[in-house]
Amino acid sequence: MAGAATTKKFRSQEWFDNPDNPGMTALYLERYLNFGLTREELQSGKPLIGIAQTGSDLSPCNRHHVELAKRVREGIVAAGGIPFEFPCHPIQETGKRPTASLDRNLGYLSLVEVLYGYPLDGVVLTIGCDKTTPALLMAAATVNIPAIALSVGPMLNGWHKGKRTGSGTIVWESRQRLSSGEIDYDEFMTIVASSAPSVGYCNTMGTATTMNSLAEALGMQLPGSAAIPAPYRERGQISYETGKRIVEMVYDDLKPSDIMTREAFENAIVVNSAIGGSTNAPIHLNAIARHLGVPLDNDDWQRLGHHVPLIVNLQPAGDYLGEDYHHAGGVPAVIAELMKAGMLPHPGAVTANGKSIGDNCAGVENLNEAVIWPVSAPLKEHAGFINLKGNLFDSAIMKTSVISKEFRDRYLSNPDDPDAFEGVAKVFDGPEDYHARIDDPAENIDENTLLFMRGAGPVGYPGGAEVVNMQPPAYLIKKGIHSLPCIGDGRQSGTSGTPSILNASPEAAVGGGLAILKSGDRVRIDLNKGTADMLVDDAEIARRREALQQDGGYHFPAHQTPWQEIQRGMVDQLAQGMVLRPAVKYQRIAQT
Ligand code: FES
Ligand code: MG
Repeated sequence: MAGAATTKKFRSQEWFDNPDNPGMTALYLERYLNFGLTREELQSGKPLIGIAQTGSDLSPCNRHHVELAKRVREGIVAAGGIPFEFPCHPIQETGKRPTASLDRNLGYLSLVEVLYGYPLDGVVLTIGCDKTTPALLMAAATVNIPAIALSVGPMLNGWHKGKRTGSGTIVWESRQRLSSGEIDYDEFMTIVASSAPSVGYCNTMGTATTMNSLAEALGMQLPGSAAIPAPYRERGQISYETGKRIVEMVYDDLKPSDIMTREAFENAIVVNSAIGGSTNAPIHLNAIARHLGVPLDNDDWQRLGHHVPLIVNLQPAGDYLGEDYHHAGGVPAVIAELMKAGMLPHPGAVTANGKSIGDNCAGVENLNEAVIWPVSAPLKEHAGFINLKGNLFDSAIMKTSVISKEFRDRYLSNPDDPDAFEGVAKVFDGPEDYHARIDDPAENIDENTLLFMRGAGPVGYPGGAEVVNMQPPAYLIKKGIHSLPCIGDGRQSGTSGTPSILNASPEAAVGGGLAILKSGDRVRIDLNKGTADMLVDDAEIARRREALQQDGGYHFPAHQTPWQEIQRGMVDQLAQGMVLRPAVKYQRIAQT
């Protein structure tokens, strides 16, 4: 590296070593000297490496990055770089009101400004909690300086009375037990707290494990990095290796656009099905792709992903948790299983370590076949998403890997029509409306009801709420009916095992078909044809559209903050990645 340093001029030298403009150079230099750096360091042509720090007391899932960053810094210095750690906008999935997803694009915007506007030659992206991963990858995509991601790692497995308790999933399960009177409030709280035994992100295959696994499948992390639990020694070690590697990437000029190609996204879609990944993944990967100018849509997710089997036995689709996933071999072992079956579409895609994903993963041993099953004998065949369309919406995603036996027996058991079901709509306008009415016997909700949630998309909520997975009324749960089909223009937590139809785009708030659906309408869902329709005739649809327009469109709650208003004015729909429309045209901006 030392030899290369004397020949290569880095971006940071435009700030610190510009002989044509000594005044500006001095101005830039003097303030970065004031914490002890020397002129020799800043003007010797060493690459300056940012550490985009997402951990803080407000972001407990990522907080361990504050410790890990010390190892990253040591790696950067060992490889001949200079570390510059800086804070990112905090995003905490479960703590941020009204929803953390409102802040994904804010985190993206602020990181774009930092990476573009400061003297950074490369960056380590500290990822973890759900929205931090896409926010940081989206920003790296837009700016396109060399970047590598580092997961904080999942929490240790949760345990209660000898059983694994997994993040989020245990909340959905225990809430039902609380509703039915099986446990009291204290036991409910104890069980839920047991699922979070250490630093790290959610230990289930929720959105966090999904997005961290996909960051590795995309090639943006070192092999094996996604699954190492946060407190393990290997987590510190891979932090050091990540720091070393980003310096080399800067010398090699290996940029996000070289790694996150169309081929890499196709690999990630296949891996997502194999791991039983979250329905939030299409939103975020479609967004990252748009910021790179790579074409990607929900039809790609169905075409490339639906036939792929589920092989990772993690909650909510399976039994195990994050530590087990790591001990079985993590993402490299999953990819090795897919490669053995010839199912990884692009083994030649380059990754952050400079090698192809195929070279990194081929032959990696699956160390526990109870956790990572072989492709030849999977947990479920055809485990990817279906992209549904019809007069209710242009696109909505259904995660088929979580369709339970109870659900299949009740809704998909007609031998003449095994992939379709019909029901009567019960429409809720946002989560408050749902909570107010769901248990009211006058609503007449029974096993033939399809629960609809609207007003929960990126404009309606705002940011898109994780509220589509709706629990049936308590009186139905007591009768043994644990889930009703749920459909909506919002999202669902990746830790939920409900086979909902989600992310409906366009949402009601921008005039999608859900805006004119009425309680009592019959609705037909056909998973084979990929259709979702209200069985309402065209003349009535036209009448309702007219009435909606007369009424000034679908009504949604007022803005509460400046950002809510700004984002609502320019945000795209969930199927299109929920990106800020004006941001998409700014691509690879560090080179211009
Ligand atoms: Fe942060 Fe799940 S809430 S990772
Ligand atoms: Mg979430």
